[in-house]
Amino acid sequence: MEFIKVTEQHRPHIALIELNRPKELNALNLQLMTEVKEALEALDKNDDVRVIVLTGNERAFAAGADIKQMAGKSAIDMAKIDQFATWDKIKKTKKPLIAAVSGFALGGGCELAMTCDMIVASETAQFGQPEIKIGVMPGAGGTQRLTRAIGKARAMEMVLTGKFISAEEALHYGLINKVVPVEMYLEAALALAKDIAQMSPIATQMAKESVNRAFETHLDEGLHFERKNFYMLFASEDQKEGMNAFVEKRKPEFKGR
Ligand code: HXC
Repeated sequence: MEFIKVTEQHRPHIALIELNRPKELNALNLQLMTEVKEALEALDKNDDVRVIVLTGNERAFAAGADIKQMAGKSAIDMAKIDQFATWDKIKKTKKPLIAAVSGFALGGGCELAMTCDMIVASETAQFGQPEIKIGVMPGAGGTQRLTRAIGKARAMEMVLTGKFISAEEALHYGLINKVVPVEMYLEAALALAKDIAQMSPIATQMAKESVNRAFETHLDEGLHFERKNFYMLFASEDQKEGMNAFVEKRKPEFKGR
């Protein structure tokens, strides 16, 4: 891996992926995105990993897709490269994925954070979709996920003016989960990951899948989907362990079976 660092067991059951193109503010070139996709696919298959944290550095989570790589491309070039196939695979990650964001999360960087399940940010984080300023528009979910997260009026303003919002505003708008001082943002994300890693990994994956379904279907179908996953969990040892532990007044030990 040239542009990311992966630590499989950064903490027990928690993997860390760090975007690592600091000089370019972690601009997301095609190779970096392929590396992220490959890392997520491998971590998804690793039974010792239950939660994944994705981060950048203090100055930038990611300042967007690599403009220098895109500048000379034609529409046909872009369609042939088909970079969104990579993004679609990232979206399919089964394990809970937490973005730990500090500094710039712009364009594709904001979209990558929104592709994660939760976002923990430092006070210095700035979120924006500035593509309009370079003559294009968001292409990796910015018009869709941002609108669902913060509503039409605010999303429209961000997408049409390219203005950034602060971490506090992002929290107020419901885009992110938490804002903490800059020296704590990664720890705070890891603490959230630890809380989730203590649960049954089968249940967390099915719960994630069910919450995500809420964005993609109408209520009746979503409820039906939720119910099927709920029933399915009664086939797991973790369900027996969790419920027996409650009855026996002890802490459950989930094994992911
Ligand atoms: C390529 C980038 C980059 C980017 C920063 N850099 N953002 N290179 N693509 N998206 C490079 C700069 O060219 C510079 O390299 C170095 O990183 C440091 O950046 P500076 O501009 O010198 O830093 P600063 O003055 O602090 O300004 C920070 C900034 C600005 C406000 C974040 O860099 C900026 O506006 N970046 C572009 C943000 C953007 O438009 N993002 C959306 C991209 S389109 P050199 O070598 O010159 O020193 C997009 C579409 C997504 O994301 C579609 C789906 C994938």
